[in-house]
Amino acid sequence: MKVLIIGQGGREHALVWKLKQSPRVTRLYCAPGNAGIAELATLVPIAENRVDELVRFAKEAGIDLAVVGPEQPLLDGIVDAFETAGLKAFGPGADAALIEGSKGFAKDLMKKYGIPTAAYESFDDYAAALDYVRRKGAPIVIKADGLAAGKGVTVARTLEDAEAALNAAMNQKIYGAAGSRVVIEECLAGEEMSLMAFVDGETVKPMVPAQDHKPVYDHDEGPNTGGMGTYSPVPHIPQTIVDRAIEEILKPTARAMVLEGRPFRGVLYAGLMITSDGPKVIEFNARFGDPETQVVLPRLETDLVEIISAVTEGRLAETEIKWKPDAAVCVVLTAPGYPGSYPKGLPIEGLAKAAEKTGLIFHAGTAAKDDQTVTAGGRVLGVTCTGQTITDARRCAYDAVDRIHFEGMHYRTDIAAKALKNVTD
Ligand code: AMP
Ligand code: GLY
Repeated sequence: MKVLIIGQGGREHALVWKLKQSPRVTRLYCAPGNAGIAELATLVPIAENRVDELVRFAKEAGIDLAVVGPEQPLLDGIVDAFETAGLKAFGPGADAALIEGSKGFAKDLMKKYGIPTAAYESFDDYAAALDYVRRKGAPIVIKADGLAAGKGVTVARTLEDAEAALNAAMNQKIYGAAGSRVVIEECLAGEEMSLMAFVDGETVKPMVPAQDHKPVYDHDEGPNTGGMGTYSPVPHIPQTIVDRAIEEILKPTARAMVLEGRPFRGVLYAGLMITSDGPKVIEFNARFGDPETQVVLPRLETDLVEIISAVTEGRLAETEIKWKPDAAVCVVLTAPGYPGSYPKGLPIEGLAKAAEKTGLIFHAGTAAKDDQTVTAGGRVLGVTCTGQTITDARRCAYDAVDRIHFEGMHYRTDIAAKALKNVTD
């Protein structure tokens, strides 16, 4: 089977790593990929958003299955385009991907079907939004409606911050068109958890939960990023809560999408807040999370090709999915300045030494230059380790991080610390 992975980050490296283990895969391609992925797959120099070119390549190369990593091509209808061309692709069509592409759509869906989420209102008029914020007071959450690469959300602790965020999104348009409509939400308190599931219409098969760390600095300080590190399992969130999230959120959402005539096929990602009233949705994504995938896939025992084929062929209900008891921790190394502007092309040292510690160094933003691996993005590497316990996996990941260096390299030193504080393993 010839498989094409679309995307270029750590999530796609983890997907390539897992798919490579399948006895059914004979050739692996990745478009456009990165320096780490190049060691496992043939890179195809087509950007992830060039849908027509990707379809043309897939036809010419005889690709049997395409796996789409990022959200933008999904929203652009890449899966629809592959299917129209008679090709198989894993992921939702554009109409179902809207659950990620429009926060307003997702919120309205949840309201209609009684899926627990923060109370909210949507606005496209600045004066009305400002009035609402002033009436509600702080803390309050302001979200750009459209895609903003994980950066369109402000959790405002003061009214002043809330007004500044509204002004930035709606008047200054710092997120472009994505911010001309905003969703204003009640601020939820609790622990966050990411729960992804394979979904094939109404059938939902959950993955193991993970926890991401979004702010750039230790103790959750500083601006939000795409994700600074993850771990799985999340031992201090009990299975009863995970089960509630599956029964009260994931399954009803899959059913709601079917009832709306937009059946979801692919990976449905629920970003949850575990409140004192139970799990509530912060956001949905229409794809694998990044960097959640880097800790979830190393725990997957079942052949991923089997699961993906089952989803694309509508037989997920008959497919058994097995998970390993191991723990996994991923520490993201970023370029100096991220999530603001950052330099590229910084030489990375110590990758071979770090690889003696772990075989799970997922490249997020790297490129090959002459004989050297250099930085090519804000998130550069996701250094991941598995172990019997979170403590073991964490120690191993940070030992591997210690062996890697590039100028201005930054990472959080407290990934998975919450899990350690809450349990002794
Ligand atoms: P999102 O891009 O929607 O996942 O939001 C990014 C981050 O903002 C989340 O991971 C939360 O930490 C925070 N956040 C979003 N919505 C809320 C909310 N309603 N209450 C509290 N925090 C939130
Ligand atoms: N880790 C959050 C995301 O993938 O959007």
